[in-house]
Amino acid sequence: MVVPPDVRLQKTLRPKDGTAGIERPKALLDALPEDPRPLMALSSRHVVSARAFDRATLVQLFRLAAQYESTPQLMHMPLSGKILISAFYEPSTRTRLSFESAWHRLGGDIMSITDPATTGMAKGESLADIAEMFNNYGDVIVLRNNEDHAIYEMLDALRIPIINAGNGIDEHPTQAMADLYTIFKWRPQLLAEHVPPAQHIRIGVIGVPGRMRTVRSLLLMLGQFSEVIAEVVVICDEAAPFSAGQAEELAALGLKVRISKQLDAELPALDVVYINAIAWVGDTFEAMGKNLRLSAASPLKPDAIILHPLARGEELATDLDATPHNWYFAQARGAVFIRMALLTCTVRRVSEVMDTPLS
Ligand code: CP
Repeated sequence: MVVPPDVRLQKTLRPKDGTAGIERPKALLDALPEDPRPLMALSSRHVVSARAFDRATLVQLFRLAAQYESTPQLMHMPLSGKILISAFYEPSTRTRLSFESAWHRLGGDIMSITDPATTGMAKGESLADIAEMFNNYGDVIVLRNNEDHAIYEMLDALRIPIINAGNGIDEHPTQAMADLYTIFKWRPQLLAEHVPPAQHIRIGVIGVPGRMRTVRSLLLMLGQFSEVIAEVVVICDEAAPFSAGQAEELAALGLKVRISKQLDAELPALDVVYINAIAWVGDTFEAMGKNLRLSAASPLKPDAIILHPLARGEELATDLDATPHNWYFAQARGAVFIRMALLTCTVRRVSEVMDTPLS
């Protein structure tokens, strides 16, 4: 690559995009009355599945995240003296770094494992035994593993909470929290007591729910807010994109889900477009839906937002980055604050946090 001379001399930082200020988290914070009770129940609890989170708990997590994001100058160090074991046995950019950034901002210390070959796993140590050791060394574990079952094999041995940062094709609950936090910063009025049908939103999910952990957890959490979602359109090339029982579970939550293969035909009616093109298949990552791509030329609604939870591939053109549709950078940034909220509630009693000047 030849770097032009004017770029070599460039000294200024790129300006922040329009979604980066404190106005939107502040608006969300102002829209939500504080109720610490649902958060108290999170203390010392594992976070494995999106199913464990009801609407009241999620709303209060979004509120605490918005508080952290909009008032950084009031930040205290509620996790000072606590130790996070950050165990990522599969590659990650945004999940690992946003968890670790969240933990640092809360004043805690970290032990980070990024390669299972540096642990007893390389010598055949069982996950249950590793969990037993983790009990002795930290206060909470964040685990990324490409096997669905790994986190479940550790649960019985654990005396400290574990947070699922993605287990195979099963779940990624904290990513779904980051996704919903972004949607509600975009439209705080969706959390009002009565939302007129004209304000209900239509969400397009480009992906395969049965084989993508981010999509699986997102759909489950959207189910907690189904009354303001007119429809979820799952857009993919596959005729049967759900795993066994998945569509029925979403229907039981009140989510109206439809399948489509026609991306450009659906786009003009979608308020939120969520695109995920990577799934863990067998023992590797695979790009899926090669015909399903977004660019500035796509027929998007003028005020539609795009979310993208993973590493960008060809499915998301960079010419969207400078448009108002780009909420994927805000989504990645907001992940720090929602994880701060979750970590605080998991590791400390919420009352300790609520008594600080953060309130
Ligand atoms: N959202 C997410 O899982 O991205 P990473 O793989 O970069 O952590």
